[in-house]
Amino acid sequence: MPWLQLSFNVPRAQTEAFSLNLEIAGALSITLGDAGEEPQLEPGPGETPLWSEVTLTALFESDPETQTLVERLARHLTVQLGTPPRIERIEDRVWERVWLDTFKPTRFGRRLWVCPHGQAPNDPRAVVVALDPGLAFGTGHHATTALCLEWLDGASLADKTVLDFGCGSGILAIAALKLGAARAIAVDHDPQALEATRDNALANGVADRLDIHAPEHLPDHAADCVLANILAATLIALAPRLIERLRPQGELVLSGVLAEQADSVRAAYTDSLDLDPTRIREDWVLISGSRKHRHPDG
Ligand SMILES: C[S@@+](CC[C@H](N)C(=O)[O-])C[C@H]1O[C@@H](n2cnc3c(N)ncnc32)[C@H](O)[C@@H]1O
Repeated sequence: MPWLQLSFNVPRAQTEAFSLNLEIAGALSITLGDAGEEPQLEPGPGETPLWSEVTLTALFESDPETQTLVERLARHLTVQLGTPPRIERIEDRVWERVWLDTFKPTRFGRRLWVCPHGQAPNDPRAVVVALDPGLAFGTGHHATTALCLEWLDGASLADKTVLDFGCGSGILAIAALKLGAARAIAVDHDPQALEATRDNALANGVADRLDIHAPEHLPDHAADCVLANILAATLIALAPRLIERLRPQGELVLSGVLAEQADSVRAAYTDSLDLDPTRIREDWVLISGSRKHRHPDG
């Protein structure tokens, strides 16, 4: 069945009133999007911040009666907004197919792959993380995750304990375990992320080697490798906590940092870590280093 899609921009304060009117008019779904260029990076759990200018997109059935109603609604909106809304006809598609066409097996580094369930690569050396997109962040398609996955692919993880702080889907902890880490600990302050990590670990057969915790329940012991793909300001605030979790000479990997923020994040870690050169992908950088070995007298 085809659909009719109506979309227009409104200021943030009017979003609720317009959404309600669309609902009353019989919209099957209403989607809110950014009408400008104002990315909302990583809202906290339960927060749904809105952009200052919002694009409302409503989907209606396309039978003749609804079509007449949508046209009438469009005339009202043109008077109210001073500009006509966009009306599009959306043809029905096999939506599962559309999803599979966009999310394909992807390789990171030499042998690490992230693949939708049931789609293994034709590579006998492949180390595969099976993952479908879900509510929690982390499929490898964002540059910040890709940088961490490439780092993991090149790391020696055998017998190591890895801490994934801000685990989202659990992709980094699961990849580390598949690449040979002995144990991993995944931490996130979003309960949905903890649930997704649990499900993904089970689906990848590594749940028995993965401990999953909210930050306030994180046990004390230190890790050989700490990964944190969060945002610059959070990484700076978390610096003492993340450093404290690292064994002497343990490795720290920080992602989620824009190129222009790299110096301030490096400054928060440079006293305790020997930092490697920054790796870059698109506008994002990865900062890594190993914990300095301190002599007892110094
Ligand atoms: C950008 S996602 C990264 C997900 C995954 N590790 C990856 O690399 O794709 C950041 C995650 O960190 C979590 N997070 C943000 N601030 C946090 C904090 N202060 N403590 C714990 N988790 C946090 C978010 O809930 C989110 O799941």
